[in-house]
Amino acid sequence: MSSLLQDLQEKIAQVLEKINTELEEVKNSADLEEIKNKYLSKKGVFTSFMQNLANASSEEKPALGKIVNEAKNKVVEKVNAQREKFAASALNAKLAAEKIDITLPSRHSFSGSLHPITLTSRRIENWFSKLGFVVRQGPEIEDDFHNFTALNIPPKHPARAMQDTFYFDADTVLRTQTSGTQIHVLEEEPLPLRMIAPGRVYRSDSDQTHSPMFHQCEGLVVDERTTFADLKGILTAFLRDFFERDDLRVRLRPSFFPFTEPSAEVDIGFADKNAADHEIKWLEVLGCGMVHPNVLRNVGIDADKYQGYAFGMGIERLAMLRYGISDLRMFFENDLRFLSRFSAQY
Ligand code: PHE
Repeated sequence: MSSLLQDLQEKIAQVLEKINTELEEVKNSADLEEIKNKYLSKKGVFTSFMQNLANASSEEKPALGKIVNEAKNKVVEKVNAQREKFAASALNAKLAAEKIDITLPSRHSFSGSLHPITLTSRRIENWFSKLGFVVRQGPEIEDDFHNFTALNIPPKHPARAMQDTFYFDADTVLRTQTSGTQIHVLEEEPLPLRMIAPGRVYRSDSDQTHSPMFHQCEGLVVDERTTFADLKGILTAFLRDFFERDDLRVRLRPSFFPFTEPSAEVDIGFADKNAADHEIKWLEVLGCGMVHPNVLRNVGIDADKYQGYAFGMGIERLAMLRYGISDLRMFFENDLRFLSRFSAQY
């Protein structure tokens, strides 16, 4: 082996060792490019090796040149491999940083729920619908005839003072009761008839148990053979189902409404566990009675052929008892903490 060859091989081995340690220790692609420029550029060590070959004999030159080129190619490969490693880890870091966790819940996903008054109203509607009652709605702005006169409350009748009415003018009011819907439906629909009419009513009254706007549900049945026993039976069955208590006590107390005769108020009874003798506590929940013949006559119905019964209940009242709410105003404040308690109820 020529001394030139030996000399070159030794030098190359030294250079390669140095380059390899540098490549092993390189931390980032900028440093890698620096190493590449230092050794592989035109001013680099391999170029000067080639230049030194000018002194070699022409027989030796090809072999020596080949050695230098092979060494240079090894370095190029290593640099490329290292560059790919950096590119791959840069890509992985980017993918990790931009990863979207699709299992995370979105930031604002509130689901709405029905208002307890709506829930209660629907509960009443569903129950009566199953018995063939149609659901009707009358206007909230009512004329004197439908809110009062047709219901057997003529002008100057003292019963008008029972309800603190909001007047638009002498003939137009915000309805004080859903009973006016009885008149609309009797005017428009054929007999026999079974209907309920839930809706808003208005009275000039406001405190812990009274709101100027509240909800009622009216009921009306008109047929050729309706009796007070039917009325009592249907209301008892309804109240027991509504409160989900088969043993709920139901009591009818004589009362007065101009548009029903006889009239009654309906109380439900709870055994008061705190009282020594488990005394029954009675709570009034609705008003009812047999439709007054004058009401039928006022809408042109033959009162000798037809009779009917009617009832009216306060929806807030029923909702308060069913859900155990003590302050009526809770329904109208629309505090989400209160309303969301009813999301899973019916
Ligand atoms: N309208 C009556 C009220 O508001 C309730 C009622 C309706 C009574 C139907 C009898 C029959 O108090």
